[in-house]
Amino acid sequence: MRPGRAADPPPQARRPPAVAPVAPESAAPDAPDAPESAAPDAPVTAPVAAPVAADVDVRGLHHTFRPHGSREPVIALDGVDLHVPAGGFVSVVGPSGCGKSTLLRVLAGLLVPTGGTATVGGEDVRGRPGHVAYLPQRDLLLPWRRALANAVLGAELAGVPREEAQRRARPLFERFGLAGFERAWPWELSGGMRQRLALLRTFLLGAPVLVLDEPFAALDAITRRAMYAWLGEVWMDDRRTVLFVTHDVDEALTLADRVVVLSGRPGRVVTEVDVPMPRPRPATVVTEADVVERKRTLLEALGG
Ligand SMILES: Nc1ncnc2c1ncn2[C@@H]1O[C@H](COP(=O)(O)OP(=O)(O)OP(=O)(O)O)[C@@H](O)[C@H]1O
Ligand SMILES: [Mg+2]
Repeated sequence: MRPGRAADPPPQARRPPAVAPVAPESAAPDAPDAPESAAPDAPVTAPVAAPVAADVDVRGLHHTFRPHGSREPVIALDGVDLHVPAGGFVSVVGPSGCGKSTLLRVLAGLLVPTGGTATVGGEDVRGRPGHVAYLPQRDLLLPWRRALANAVLGAELAGVPREEAQRRARPLFERFGLAGFERAWPWELSGGMRQRLALLRTFLLGAPVLVLDEPFAALDAITRRAMYAWLGEVWMDDRRTVLFVTHDVDEALTLADRVVVLSGRPGRVVTEVDVPMPRPRPATVVTEADVVERKRTLLEALGG
């Protein structure tokens, strides 16, 4: 952490977002029950050249989905308070269906919550895409686009000319372990490479805040550990603010400064655990006594 960056986000962090490529989902009671088609989870943000620090603050966040027809309303989130300091890395864990993705979609401006506030760098982001770079739960690489064309998709959607977006993307292929694969098709990449490409696309957007929804969930244990080391290094290089959703307590403890546990639906914060272990952290960090103690606390909070 860089304490000096947390207090007062620089002016760039407050600039208004570029034109949003998708409209936010309405929270009105008569909202259509087809949000995926109405607001596809494409990577969304304003591309800016250099990342700047911004904090994330969520207060009393509440969201009730009101499906059409006879289905009962679903209270997904109920009074969630969450703070990620500028340049911090916070992980959210919680059981399936507790509202983790709903929380991220609110921060991405794709879903207007039924209650509470959500700000990024002090700006209200409810229903306003463009303040964070959002990696949805599915990687959403387009099979008809080669790796480089997939990488620039979000930037293109936000209005950056293709050549300019490609010029920015090329150096990142090296950094993301994808050098030489710029012209590969998505099906020619391994699972880990696909995830790195999806992350590259998210990084390329240049937003100060990354919200990542279970980016490694589909990977095997060995690949995941390699990805932790790699993401830890990438994060330490430029210290963007990260909110990282996972089911995996070890993953959260390996990566984050702080782990927040949500209850089963409706999601609310049941505990928070600081993880002050030095970085870079080896894979074995989860076997250290201090970390095992924290893991016990988290598992108890999860009801395990
Ligand atoms: N668009 C929607 N319309 C109606 N209900 C929804 C919608 N999106 C999510 N829900 C409901 O809200 C609850 C929370 O969903 P959400 O996707 O946020 O959970 P999650 O914690 O991300 O789960 P997982 O860990 O399985 O990804 C679930 O009960 C889900 O069925
Ligand atoms: Mg989810």
